[in-house]
Amino acid sequence: MRLSVGAFLALSHLPGLSADATPGFRGVTNSCLSEPIQPTPEKRAPKVMIISMFAPEAEVWHKNLPSSGLGDLLAVNISIPGLSPIFPQAHCTASGEICQLTAGESEINAAASLTALALSPRFDLVRTYFLVAGIAGVNPKLATLGGVALARFAVQVALQYEIDAREMPAGLGTGYIPFGGYDPCDYPAILYGTEVLELNGALRDRAYALASRATLADDVGAGAHRAMYADAPGGVFERATGPPSVVRCDTATSDVYYSGALLSETFENTTRIWTNQTVITYCMTAQEDNAVLGVLLRARLWGLGDYERAIVMRAGSNFDRPPPSVTAYAHLRLSDQDAFHIAVENLYRAGVEIVRGIVDEWNCTYKVGVRPTNYVGDVFGSLGGEPDFGPGGLFGGRGACVGEGSCGSAGGASAAAAAESMRRRRRRGGVGGGWK
Ligand SMILES: *[C@@H]1O[C@H](CO)[C@@H](O)[C@H](O)[C@H]1NC(C)=O
Ligand SMILES: *[C@@H]1O[C@H](CO)[C@@H](O)[C@H](O)[C@H]1NC(C)=O
Ligand SMILES: *[C@@H]1O[C@H](CO)[C@@H](O)[C@H](O)[C@H]1NC(C)=O
Ligand SMILES: *[C@@H]1O[C@H](CO)[C@@H](O)[C@H](O)[C@H]1NC(C)=O
Repeated sequence: MRLSVGAFLALSHLPGLSADATPGFRGVTNSCLSEPIQPTPEKRAPKVMIISMFAPEAEVWHKNLPSSGLGDLLAVNISIPGLSPIFPQAHCTASGEICQLTAGESEINAAASLTALALSPRFDLVRTYFLVAGIAGVNPKLATLGGVALARFAVQVALQYEIDAREMPAGLGTGYIPFGGYDPCDYPAILYGTEVLELNGALRDRAYALASRATLADDVGAGAHRAMYADAPGGVFERATGPPSVVRCDTATSDVYYSGALLSETFENTTRIWTNQTVITYCMTAQEDNAVLGVLLRARLWGLGDYERAIVMRAGSNFDRPPPSVTAYAHLRLSDQDAFHIAVENLYRAGVEIVRGIVDEWNCTYKVGVRPTNYVGDVFGSLGGEPDFGPGGLFGGRGACVGEGSCGSAGGASAAAAAESMRRRRRRGGVGGGWK
């Protein structure tokens, strides 16, 4: 279900000015004169929007894209109200086919910047593929330094109660306990909606095939660091010891930059349990994915973007836990893993293959979209369909109805019914319908 873009554009961007609330909006108008007061800004409909988090991740695209023949991202700069003070502009190639936004680091910056982009009248993002391309901590059980992962699930792992581990009950294993739960292994009984975001698996697999065309960069120092993982008991870190490659596995989101074996194992478990999987799939940890995807999910709901066109790609710049015989602190703060530069470089090398693939095969494949074969969306079932994780959707498989009176019988279910179902579920969970 989609609403027209016009239905959502009744926004005031500047004092005394309001955006025209009609489909095909063509610029800012003065509400008194109802006439355009500035030249009509061009509305761009990029095929790909690259999302970087900070300067090095952006610069690798700015520097290298021109030599790929795909264009220069610094050809067009677009200021967007609401972007970060240090990254106030989006960038596009002259053709407008490829754009890039630097969101800023961590969840607040990512959510705020993406929301500004989604609501900007300068862009039509309904057919745009979003490529989140950032560096990350990497799980040595599943991938390695410089390796590139494409995710199906993004999990907001730290959205939990936390008791300092020095005060936790004996035998608990971790001080993290899911909301409404009593044990780290409980499924959260209280859900905010952004905990688990499932991506289009068919698109992920296409992106994986495209990214696999890249020759990834490596570094001698990173190789030496990887070798320290070889003597872990049972060879559990064997994947860490090989050269970088492109892999399919999932990402964890946390504002807290956690590090060490115990927290990494905790969030391995969190990811496995919250996604209802039986094996460990958590391989990358970063600070933004669920924030970006949460905005794209809302954009889809309001007809401003297509969540099914989101790709999350992360490259390992450091391990999330130390090799045997190194302390968590020494690993985090005192050792150089020599992988920052190859991770940034490999974001570009793998990412440019994805971008090129989408642009080259636009007419025959990507324009209409890649149909997902898995459930796509959040734990509430907001976009329709029944989640394959969590306690069951709130919208009866029909998706959420947003907007005013625009949902017919084929449309989504009402928010009031969903809120009531949420309250019932909380009471069943024995948490008294309260917030704790
Ligand atoms: C766009 O901004 C970058 C700096 O972010 C600058 O180097 C470049 O010249 C600008 N492009 C144009 C066309 O002004
Ligand atoms: C993770 O889960 C496994 C299996 O349930 C358990 O043995 C282990 O203690 C958990 N790890 C942590 C850090 O809680
Ligand atoms: C794709 O379609 C557009 C519009 O129909 C056309 O201008 C363009 O040349 C086509 N591109 C390719 C690669 O076929
Ligand atoms: C996911 O697992 C939880 C228990 O951890 C269970 O209550 C829930 O029904 C499962 N959901 C699905 C869709 O399998």
